[in-house]
Amino acid sequence: MQKYFFICVILITLNALDNGLGRKPPMGWNPWNKYGCNINEEIVRQTADALVSTGLAAAGYIYLNLDDCWQSARDPVTKKIIADPVKFPSGIPSLVQYVHSKGLKFGLYSDAGMQTCEGKPGSLGYEEIDAETYAEWDIDYLKYDNCHTDGTSPKVRYPPMSAALMKQSKKIYFSMCEWGLEKPWLWAPPIANSWRTTGDISDHWYSFIAILEEQANLAQYAGPGQWNDPDMLEVGNGGMKTHEYQAHFALWAILKAPLLIGCDITNMSQDTKKILMNREVIAVNQDSLGKQATRVKKVLTSEVWAAEVADNGAGVVAVLFNQASIQESITIEFDKLGISGPQNVRDLINQVDLGQSTVSYTCQVPGRSAVMVKFRSVQSEQ
Ligand code: GLA
Repeated sequence: MQKYFFICVILITLNALDNGLGRKPPMGWNPWNKYGCNINEEIVRQTADALVSTGLAAAGYIYLNLDDCWQSARDPVTKKIIADPVKFPSGIPSLVQYVHSKGLKFGLYSDAGMQTCEGKPGSLGYEEIDAETYAEWDIDYLKYDNCHTDGTSPKVRYPPMSAALMKQSKKIYFSMCEWGLEKPWLWAPPIANSWRTTGDISDHWYSFIAILEEQANLAQYAGPGQWNDPDMLEVGNGGMKTHEYQAHFALWAILKAPLLIGCDITNMSQDTKKILMNREVIAVNQDSLGKQATRVKKVLTSEVWAAEVADNGAGVVAVLFNQASIQESITIEFDKLGISGPQNVRDLINQVDLGQSTVSYTCQVPGRSAVMVKFRSVQSEQ
């Protein structure tokens, strides 16, 4: 068993993009879900300040990424990409410096097509010069979208940017965004650190659960350096109830999704802060094993997602998720989790120990809510 585990770890390591980045799912902020195209350098600076002052950066959220609409044109002579002079009058390099001075990392966005989804210049055919520019600007992360293409497969259009980034001495995290169209989990690990698995999330319960459904059979493709990306967080944007956002966050955490906050963090409610800064839930996402959860049980609207973890005491974490609008009793049998014997049970969302269970664990889960529990063998703790 141990031997096979070792071989698997080696295969994953060899397969992942060789830039040493994303050994844990990236954590940070991206403006798209809240601001769309209405982004500017003032918002970025205030967000950088807020990442630090709220404690989000200390909790792990260190990437401050731009999305679409930061660019306006290409220099007709040099072909170098130009930032929108109205939205970003100080230019990207000075903004990067500011963000770096706060101890944060900076991400940019482009597109493997002629134009971005919002009609700004794309990088197709300009991969080399754009990658050089990003490195010159000291960029840490690139999200690479899939609009306005020449009709060729993403399998043709994404590798050139990956290769161009790899040529730079500055290492840049490569986040592919082809929306899962060509099953990127099957071919993207050697060229990207993460890849979107679906279309865009929106700030609604049904969007969240539709995306969740599409994550059910992808766990085997994730690991250190290579992550499935079910899209950014909507927590704090107002379209869902607090308990629904809590479920969204717990599930994204155990799916080992990149945790990219998508709300206005300069003005967060206490509930939003509490969800996003929950140490024990974040620790599941950042666990060194990097195992994405699989769905181990589904009965109508009740389901259980689980993953093995190594840190803070090895064990198995499970999310008991009730999609119905009324309370349900959810039971998880320990054999479905690959564990046996008496287990210490801890509620990670509320950070309380719940005593011991043997054989199975049952919980009353309120409507549209998730309970996240960790099981640790009593024997291993003696
Ligand atoms: C696509 C992406 C989104 C966002 C927008 C920007 O829809 O999937 O995440 O980047 O483009 O235009």
